Amino acid sequence: MKIFIDTANIEEIREISQWGILDGVTTNPSLIAKEGRDLKEVIKEITDLVDGPISAEVISLIGKEMVQEAKELAQIHKNVVIKIPMTDEGLKAVKELTQMGIKTNVTLVFSASQALLAAKAGATFVSPFLGRLDDVGQEGMQLIRDIGEIFARHGIPTEVLAASIRHNLHVIDAAKSGADIATIPYSVFKQMVKHPLTDAGIEKFLKDHEKISKK
Ligand code: E4P
Repeated sequence: MKIFIDTANIEEIREISQWGILDGVTTNPSLIAKEGRDLKEVIKEITDLVDGPISAEVISLIGKEMVQEAKELAQIHKNVVIKIPMTDEGLKAVKELTQMGIKTNVTLVFSASQALLAAKAGATFVSPFLGRLDDVGQEGMQLIRDIGEIFARHGIPTEVLAASIRHNLHVIDAAKSGADIATIPYSVFKQMVKHPLTDAGIEKFLKDHEKISKK
């Protein structure tokens, strides 16, 4: 499973990219707004840090306008992937962008039928939102399994990108459920790398080593 970071914060991306495990980056308008910065400027900086797909989302809700925005964003770098909301207008934009050779990530996917339509339109990635489904009492992980089963049965090449990840367990379950990619917030990366037994083990090894070196 590939691992993306879900943030628009340059310092977070820099830190995690140095771990050598990062395959890509996803952003969305809320994450960009949190940084209080210009979308294109942020995306350009990210392309200098990570060599992999970098999702930048359009704001317009009208197909033709989405395509226009997408063309401008795609000019920033060859790795830019255009995030398009899962609507009828979004599908039209995905179809047109696919024909132009521009990669897309269909976002705000909450059902298998939405994922199927997005894939049929030519989406490179679909982003089912796990955490937001869990929040309303629907099991997000079941959606990953359903989409995975449909895509596998029909040989659909669209990649399943597990999004809206809230904790460690979401990542592991997404991997077990067949997600192609998990996009993970910075705080969850920090949870994933830690285990209290690892810390305790290091402390004990160092104490034992000190005893020997004092002799
Ligand atoms: C990523 O592509 C999504 O925009 C993001 O994972 C949404 O996460 P949230 O539900 O925590 O806002």
